Amino acid sequence: MVAYLLLLGIFMVFIIIHLKSRRPKGFPPGPIALPFLGSIHKMCSSNPLNDIEKLRKTYGNIYSLYLGRNAAVVLCGTQALKEALVNKAVDFAGRHQDLFMTAVTKRRGGLLADYGPTWKEHRRFTLMTLRNFGLGKQSMEQRILGELQYTIDYLEKNTGKIFSPQIMFHSVASNVICQLLFNNRYEHGEEFITTIVNSLCEIIKMNNGPWALIHESFPWVRCLPLPFTNAFEAIEVLKKLIIPVIEEHKKDRVPGEPRDFVDSYLDELEKVYNDGSSFSSEELLMYCLLLYMAGTDTTANTLLFGFLYLMNRPHIQERCQEEIDRVLEGKDFVTFEDRHDMPYVQAVIHEAQRTADTVPLSLFHATTRDTELMGYSIPKGTIVIPNLSSALWEEGQWKFPHEFNPENFLNDKGEFVKPDAFLPFSAGLRVCLGEALARMELFLMMVTLLKKFKFIWPEDAGEPDFTPVYGLTMTPKPYNMRVEIR
Ligand code: HEM
Ligand SMILES: *[C@@H]1O[C@H](CO)[C@@H](O)[C@H](O)[C@H]1NC(C)=O
Repeated sequence: MVAYLLLLGIFMVFIIIHLKSRRPKGFPPGPIALPFLGSIHKMCSSNPLNDIEKLRKTYGNIYSLYLGRNAAVVLCGTQALKEALVNKAVDFAGRHQDLFMTAVTKRRGGLLADYGPTWKEHRRFTLMTLRNFGLGKQSMEQRILGELQYTIDYLEKNTGKIFSPQIMFHSVASNVICQLLFNNRYEHGEEFITTIVNSLCEIIKMNNGPWALIHESFPWVRCLPLPFTNAFEAIEVLKKLIIPVIEEHKKDRVPGEPRDFVDSYLDELEKVYNDGSSFSSEELLMYCLLLYMAGTDTTANTLLFGFLYLMNRPHIQERCQEEIDRVLEGKDFVTFEDRHDMPYVQAVIHEAQRTADTVPLSLFHATTRDTELMGYSIPKGTIVIPNLSSALWEEGQWKFPHEFNPENFLNDKGEFVKPDAFLPFSAGLRVCLGEALARMELFLMMVTLLKKFKFIWPEDAGEPDFTPVYGLTMTPKPYNMRVEIR
């Protein structure tokens, strides 16, 4: 331990010396060198946040810093974000490939590839597959509603009791993805799921800590047995877990009749390409993990935040329920189409997403060529950090930027409107690939649960705490709830 700390200290000094590097001409301003900023995500967890606030105040909406040896530009505010991600979409659609995470995934998985054929082909394929399963025999809606039945059973069993909803929401989000990927659902606590979650956790923890930065900054330490090897071991564990699932699919499948993503991918592998394809069995494995990682915590945490607010704003919960009762009168199930008749519920869900601020710094982008942004020049290969949070809470963009208020999404006539600053899924070519699925999930889940249950903040729970805890995604502090059947 002491030896590690010592090493860490020495590396830090190296990095600082290393970073005497000057900024290129016309580059956005920023502090000289912030060696510890490799873990910028981690920094947001406590007071260092104030230091970063200061950076924005000092340098403006576009400023630069160094992540280890890599130059990065932070984009704050709706205007800068839209200008870069939408108006200069191609220039800003890259992903840096010299980061710790890339080393862990061995550049596999397709979806996080840099701007180019591998990413394009995988993105197109995934969107198409999502659509096929949405419109196919067993539509996405039915899959989600089917999965929700387990949540309803759980809540019915626990009526009147005080319990933590964390596992329940995680489980429903996780199973929606597992059904899509593997045509299978897993009970909470099943080894398959616990191993996936624990291993991904280990990887993310490493990625957000100082050892990732050291790995990125000094290629020659990469073969040493330093703590970052945990992340590489975790990936091996995940491989051992998922390879048998893929092998089983290979045995059972009927070519051309995919049951899930794995089948669809195997179909794609069999197609003959003229000029070599980016699809491969090695990609498939990492591709499954990436989709699982992207789709689970994000959705679960949004639900956790949503219900935390709904319990503590009973009048908002009741108004949702009135609207739901009116629109669904005489119907057993909600459909995604019903959203058009539920402007208030829509506003509440969007407000939950805004205040949940699930992925505050998005995923890092990179410039794909030398480009300009609002007067600054940014060379090819620069890391770009879209500060989505800064748009979601931006003054001037929202009627009530600093409070939970569905009016943020309603006009004078009570119709649902979506302001430009609503960017929880980011924007442009890299916009969240699961946006349509996530929106469907959030709507069907919220409506189904609010229709059947009343969610109550336990009397002895004290004042609610809405301050998020920073992880890969933001989560609310653990809390308990009570439900009654309506
Ligand atoms: C409320 C739920 C969700 C939120 C808030 C969310 C948010 C985001 C954000 C901010 C990004 C980064 C975009 C960028 O780089 O600019 C992203 C990327 C991505 N998301 Fe989501 N996401 C959610 C749910 C999902 C789901 C359910 C899936 C799975 C189908 C998914 C799959 C992905 C993928 C594959 C990417 C990478 C896209 C690419 O690089 O081309 N997400 N998401
Ligand atoms: C992102 O924006 C938020 C809100 O303006 C701010 O508090 C935070 O410090 C910013 N983070 C970075 C890395 O600029």
